Amino acid sequence: MNESSYLDELLASRATGSRRAIEPCTVVIFGASGDLTARKLIPALYHLALEKALPTPYRIIGFARREKTDDSFRAELLEALTKFSRTKPVNQAVWQSFAANLHYCQADISEAAGYERLKQLINSASEEKLKTNLLFYLATNPSQFGEIAGNLSQVGLLEKCEAGGCMQRLVVEKPFGHDLPSAQQLNAELIRHAHENQIFRIDHYLGKETVQNILTFRFSNGIFENLWTRDSVDHVQITVAEKLGVGSRGGYYEESGAMRDMIQNHVLQVLSLVAMEPPVSLEAEAVRDEKVKLLKSVRPMTPADIARNVVRGQYFAGEVDGEARPAYRSEPKVSPKSNVETFVAIKLWIDNWRWSGVPFYVRTGKNLPVSASEVRVQFKPAPNILYGAKSDIHLDPNSLTLRLQPNEGIALRFNGKVPGGGTKLQPVRMQFSYDTEFGAYTPEAYERLLLEAIAGDATLFIRRDEVETAWSIVDSIRNAWTDKPLTNREFYLAGTWGPTASDDLLATEGREWKHPQPQK
Ligand code: BG6
Repeated sequence: MNESSYLDELLASRATGSRRAIEPCTVVIFGASGDLTARKLIPALYHLALEKALPTPYRIIGFARREKTDDSFRAELLEALTKFSRTKPVNQAVWQSFAANLHYCQADISEAAGYERLKQLINSASEEKLKTNLLFYLATNPSQFGEIAGNLSQVGLLEKCEAGGCMQRLVVEKPFGHDLPSAQQLNAELIRHAHENQIFRIDHYLGKETVQNILTFRFSNGIFENLWTRDSVDHVQITVAEKLGVGSRGGYYEESGAMRDMIQNHVLQVLSLVAMEPPVSLEAEAVRDEKVKLLKSVRPMTPADIARNVVRGQYFAGEVDGEARPAYRSEPKVSPKSNVETFVAIKLWIDNWRWSGVPFYVRTGKNLPVSASEVRVQFKPAPNILYGAKSDIHLDPNSLTLRLQPNEGIALRFNGKVPGGGTKLQPVRMQFSYDTEFGAYTPEAYERLLLEAIAGDATLFIRRDEVETAWSIVDSIRNAWTDKPLTNREFYLAGTWGPTASDDLLATEGREWKHPQPQK
């Protein structure tokens, strides 16, 4: 290819590269007295202010039931920020100007008059755009999403409009439903009051730098993408492991379990980014089209497949890092007879041209030995006829590991010759580490997601068909567990890698899980 045709090809990129302008806006947080607001949303908005990334001007209004004044709301949030901010100490000058933009609206979610008060507060802004550019962040119980949208629309704060028509957006937290019918119903309720392009469904994994880098890594490098097919890949492992147990979240977890809490969203999102086809551009719909296509290619499982290819587990008392952990059934707000899964491992097949015949093993769990999320692409081994035969060993197959968290980075594993006489081989690693390369830059996922929602870019949010497809995958597995209490083999000691059946899932095929290494 001569140089000019090479440049032509570069210019053929359909990504505009331009970001939508960030306009002045009012962010209204429903559920403003909750944990998410204190731990994540306010620290994220504060950091955006610190980095001068927020529009000028902006306003933030907390909407919640508890009696508070603007000042007591601000004081409470400062206390939380001091505790949860990722940078310390809190910059007093930035906080002062941030706090001046913070307001509180006391009301019950179902109280019509409360929405009138909210409207008045919004309309008290001096800048016109702050009255019409509205981002409603629903950090409440999902059962209230529809009611909030309805009430907002009733008082004229939320108007259903096509792309570009207005800037009124709803950001909704997970869980988005608890199964396919409830997600469909929730979608139907929201769609009554807002157009799909006004709805931003959150999965905080998509705001993680390393998760976003999966696409950059795959589609901006020539060498790896060529290997990313059934011709070269033996299998893929996706691990999202947590050292924590359910702790104080027993009540929530009893209703969710690992399938709904982690597989339906975070794990399937990572899977779709790792396995999807290249999108025609980096525009939101192009990327989301490919993700949905991938999820639709996941092979549906029969009950017999599920019995063979899905392992569920629940932790019983054990130790993590030398610290005693109670059994799940003894956690607060958990039934002593609970059959809820705290661990899942699944062997999935993706029935498309690229991945036909390549198993994807995914697993997630609580009270595991390390907290780490990574994707390991295990390549097919080299023929064993030269070095293998000579040194009487099985050659280590090459692998590429995307470490999503912690120790964010990428490692390529290959065989090297041990210096000295003979032909002794040893697997060695080529490493890329985010910290070493770019310095310790660790913005919270919520910072990125809030900014994208303010900018109106939906790439990092979940589309309606995406959330529904993910539920149908999860539902088919969960339905097969109905009326099947856990058996003894399905329990695992806290601090171990799940039930032994999880290892068997791979061992029966001569494979093994490669566990993420503990953080140094
Ligand atoms: C949440 C789940 O969505 O993700 C939690 O509800 C889980 O149970 C958390 O602990 C994990 O997120 P992260 O960012 O710590 O990997």
